[in-house]
Amino acid sequence: MNALTVNKLDTKALVDYLASHEKKSLLRFLTCGSVDDGKSTLIGRLLYDTKLIFEDQLAGIERDSKKFGTVGEDIDLALLVDGLQAEREQGITIDVAYRFFTTDKRKFIVADTPGHEQYTRNMATGASNSDLAVILIDARKGILTQTRRHSFIVSLLGIKHVVLAVNKIDLVGYDQAVFDQIAADYKAFSAGFGFETLQAIPVSARYGDNVLEPSESMPWYDGPTLVEHLETVDIDSDLENRPFRLPVQWVNRPNLNFRGFSGTIASGTVRPGDAIVVARTGKASKIARVVTMPGQGGDGDLAYGRAGQAVTVTLEDEIDISRGDVIVPAAARPEVSDQFQAHLIWMNEEPLLPGRPYILKLGAKTVSATVTAIKHKIDVNTFNELAAKALPLNEVAVVDIMTQEPVAFDAYSDDHAMGSFIVIDRVSNLTLGAGMIDRGLRRATNVHWQALDVSKASRAGIKHQKPAVLWFTGLSGAGKSTIANLVEKRLLSMNHHTYLLDGDNVRHGLNKDLGFSAEDRVENIRRVAEVSRLMVDAGLVTLVSFISPFRAERQLARDLVAPGEFIEIHVATPLEVAEARDVKGLYKKARAGELKNFTGIDSPYEAPDNAELVLDTTRFSSEELAGQIVAYMAEKGYLSFGPDYEI
Ligand code: ADX
Repeated sequence: MNALTVNKLDTKALVDYLASHEKKSLLRFLTCGSVDDGKSTLIGRLLYDTKLIFEDQLAGIERDSKKFGTVGEDIDLALLVDGLQAEREQGITIDVAYRFFTTDKRKFIVADTPGHEQYTRNMATGASNSDLAVILIDARKGILTQTRRHSFIVSLLGIKHVVLAVNKIDLVGYDQAVFDQIAADYKAFSAGFGFETLQAIPVSARYGDNVLEPSESMPWYDGPTLVEHLETVDIDSDLENRPFRLPVQWVNRPNLNFRGFSGTIASGTVRPGDAIVVARTGKASKIARVVTMPGQGGDGDLAYGRAGQAVTVTLEDEIDISRGDVIVPAAARPEVSDQFQAHLIWMNEEPLLPGRPYILKLGAKTVSATVTAIKHKIDVNTFNELAAKALPLNEVAVVDIMTQEPVAFDAYSDDHAMGSFIVIDRVSNLTLGAGMIDRGLRRATNVHWQALDVSKASRAGIKHQKPAVLWFTGLSGAGKSTIANLVEKRLLSMNHHTYLLDGDNVRHGLNKDLGFSAEDRVENIRRVAEVSRLMVDAGLVTLVSFISPFRAERQLARDLVAPGEFIEIHVATPLEVAEARDVKGLYKKARAGELKNFTGIDSPYEAPDNAELVLDTTRFSSEELAGQIVAYMAEKGYLSFGPDYEI
């Protein structure tokens, strides 16, 4: 131990020490275990034992370093805070505690993920930037289902280094046979997980055996202690040797003479003079300067920037770059595609539904996306592939994803930062899932938009009207179809060109393969939303009368047409009233249990928050309400176009 004499101030020794401290490598790891495996005790033990060394060595130095204005400690704390900030930015609020400790060889950040039922979510968060996982096993119990799950997720998240801490070894009398058996079982079961290092260590967190110091009770064990292993395990991720990737967090323009692109380098290195392109557009330029951001410990030019550093680059040419773009070397570009296959971990109570629009956040890029297919779920106990129509909480699946516009990415196995994403709810902004990209899908890349000479404007113009969707939503029996039918008749009598898409009718044709499960309803609305878009493109005033119980899909329908082309009409008949009317006798059947998934009874209806029109069928007749709609359209200028109308 290179203890320092601190009572007599030795400037050179101090500076040397701080320099070596700063250069110490950082190991981020997480601990996984069930509640009773002794996880907290182990972490407590690690912190306690190492703090002793730390204090031993650093007593006084902290004090002295303050005098000199150096920030040996602050640098480390900042690292810790960085980690938290990244998560906060992603909107993940969960129960992961990060703890920091250091020995004279390395600095450590340990993510302590609680082992209760939200484990997948917590683990995924803690693991997303960990280099190593300590998997705890109770020596008395051996490998449990939890151990398998944890190990699977660890491998899924691309962690290559694992410590199998066989804890409570004191409770089995420090028995080598027990340890050997568990270690052998674990090796066999995890053989396919691609771990580069797997170190089994018999420990007693409670008594400190093999945590920091070798255990006197286990002379048969000649491997490293936990701390020795954590200090020396070679985790050199070759991030710096990977091609350069700079996801642009923001465009930095403090004055007219400076236009910089700021972000944290995901991988590789960058130097002034490097030929770069913007991944999405292929626009090319050269790096002019690499500077560190003000407030990030410097404001000067760098000779080069490397993976993990927050930098601002300036370019030799003015090219169009916005937040979410990725600056990459001209010669080593990532994939750019709007379709890819990924492993997805679902973290929300409400299952993932294919076809439903979600927000996907990939690096600094935010884009609307849907899962087009669940290829298969993975049973995290047996690793079998299972067919699935939806993905429930804590489950993992291989899925195909389609984004609204192409995004730049690398496979997760090559580059964690460029290949991982989170799924966010469009309305609540909550994080719903986390994904790892396997590969791009090229299927649709050969289908390009065909430019047509006859446009929506010309089709609408010849009909002398402004096309729009009148989207009627509400419970079964609310009166949607009756009112829509009256509105269509009125519009027709005013010489407008219309079409009415009615749920019951469309379900006899285009959607006759669909039932009333949540996933089928999503698909039902997705299809009719696409059809209504085509109808609008054809220049028609399109009336859609579907229960359309979910906000997300109504929003999807709205987003498919231009602003102002979507008029959401909530036929807000209360359930009691619709049920009392029971025109088709379906409520009676649903109450009797003869009809499953009936909206309002055992399937939810999410009322619109800001529909353009809310109709009260308890106060007005259908004729009056149809009149209200036509009046609204007239007032908003949908009906007032003469022969010269052009969009
Ligand atoms: S949606 O929820 O997927 O938008 P849609 O409007 O297409 O529903 O179809 C609703 C119509 O199907 C109802 O008006 C009713 O006649 C009929 N129906 C049959 N079973 C159900 C059910 N379980 N829930 C709601 N409607 C049902």
